[in-house]
Amino acid sequence: MTTEKGERPSKILCVGLICVDVVSITKHYPDEGSDYRLLGTHWQKGGNAANSSAVLSILGNKVDFFGAIPIPKYIKDRMDYYNVGMDNVVERPGEALPFSTVLINNETGSRTILHYRKGLQELLYEDFKKVDISEYSWIHFEGRNIEEVVKMIDRVVKYNDDNCHSKITISVELEKPRRANSCLLLPHADLAVISQDYAEFNGQSSAIDAVDYYRAKCKKGASVVCAWGSAGAASGVAGLPKSSEMTDAFPPERVVDTLGAGDTFLAGLVHSVSRGHPLLSSVKFACRLAGCKVGFYGYEALR
Ligand code: ADP
Ligand code: FRU
Repeated sequence: MTTEKGERPSKILCVGLICVDVVSITKHYPDEGSDYRLLGTHWQKGGNAANSSAVLSILGNKVDFFGAIPIPKYIKDRMDYYNVGMDNVVERPGEALPFSTVLINNETGSRTILHYRKGLQELLYEDFKKVDISEYSWIHFEGRNIEEVVKMIDRVVKYNDDNCHSKITISVELEKPRRANSCLLLPHADLAVISQDYAEFNGQSSAIDAVDYYRAKCKKGASVVCAWGSAGAASGVAGLPKSSEMTDAFPPERVVDTLGAGDTFLAGLVHSVSRGHPLLSSVKFACRLAGCKVGFYGYEALR
């Protein structure tokens, strides 16, 4: 699809989870069986794809979210607030809204996520088939329900084969260690983002090791990035030996809230790469943005 002026649309679609985060701020990490007072508590929208799409929108991108939601009201209001398009969302009335109980340790800013998902049907390829993908220049897939997401990616690849002048860039995120087959998402990705949790679970002991390992599973020319908490992130290009490099984190004066640091990092990376910036400077931008985020609660400070 092209605009009236014949330009390509530059709109991003983020595919994945939206949920509610019930955040509790603790003075320090609680002992089992103890009885503490919280410093504060609040609700916010959560989910990797939802968080990343909100940050992408804050950064000035046109962005839609695509995921399944059971009760639209609260969630839709929050996404409206961030100006994220929700027209494609698949409503599954009667099913339970996933939510996370999150403990944020005020001493360190660490986040402990206890996620609960009762029976909400994950997104299916059949749902994705209804989306007009010609509207998008970039589609990001969170690595969940892998077999279905593989089919969604295949649809985009086929679209790209048929539309070589308006190709859609594909990015994927491999985050949760428990999803063993997540690697199936790599072969067609233009940008692959690997989490520290995922990499460590699979035996890599540093961000550089992870990038070197996953580069080999990607198509030639694909960018591979691995975020590693306060150490920053590594990046490299598939098919370019010795291209892996580490970028330092940008720590704020005080780390208060690392919930969603990875989602913010990903948004910064997609934002910068999609504007044509080189991989290394995009990783630096993403580290700077995520470093800013962890100095504040939530995402408001990025606005
Ligand atoms: P996730 O939220 O997926 O666990 P990470 O903890 O790896 O993600 O963080 C993603 C990015 O956020 C890091 O690459 C880094 O740039 C930034 N970041 C995370 N924690 C810190 C921190 N304590 N200080 C500075 N930057 C951080
Ligand atoms: C942070 C996050 C939270 C959500 C959880 C789901 O990265 O997206 O907002 O509760 O991960 O795993």
